[in-house]
Amino acid sequence: MASGRGSNFQAIIDALKRGTILGICVGLVTDNPDSYAIERAKEAGIPVSIIDFAGFETRDLYEKALLEALRKLCPDLVVLAGYMRILGNEVVSEYSGKMINIHPALLPSFAGLHAQRQALQHGVKITGCTVHFVNETLDGGPIILQRSVRVMDDDDEDALSQRILIQEHIALPEAIRLFCEDRLTIEGRKVRIN
Ligand code: GRF
Repeated sequence: MASGRGSNFQAIIDALKRGTILGICVGLVTDNPDSYAIERAKEAGIPVSIIDFAGFETRDLYEKALLEALRKLCPDLVVLAGYMRILGNEVVSEYSGKMINIHPALLPSFAGLHAQRQALQHGVKITGCTVHFVNETLDGGPIILQRSVRVMDDDDEDALSQRILIQEHIALPEAIRLFCEDRLTIEGRKVRIN
């Protein structure tokens, strides 16, 4: 699932093409008809479902349509690769243990939007990215992988985001690879990599 430019989605497509991940991408689901991820999916021959958030009267109706689109794909794993909405509890519980998210900070620091800006404003020296299972708490599920990035004195939000993004493109395919190889075990808050 992706909402915007889809560079993380592209990193997954590339890893699948290289054969690094033993799996297939059964579909892209997006809430945004203008998402560049749609072009990337078409280019890679991946089916696209557009569930346009703006086309629904209520959030509930949107979530129902989203769930229907996901169910049709029968995914073993749902990857939030820059999906920019908070998911409802029904979707989250249906895919419990089978849904992961990439976040551009070292969680639990700087959850929510503008994580890179939050890190700069706080003055941390090290930030990074986190891949985690999704649970009912925003950016709060068990952590699979993290990669760190140094914050430079003259960093602005763009420069820092770019360097974190490079690490996201490594971490997300790596977490998917581990999942597809059945090497992740959730033990309470911890994820064991076997
Ligand atoms: C990434 O920084 C991701 O961590 C955040 O939104 C951004 C999406 O970028 N959730 P892209 O659409 O994958 O290029």
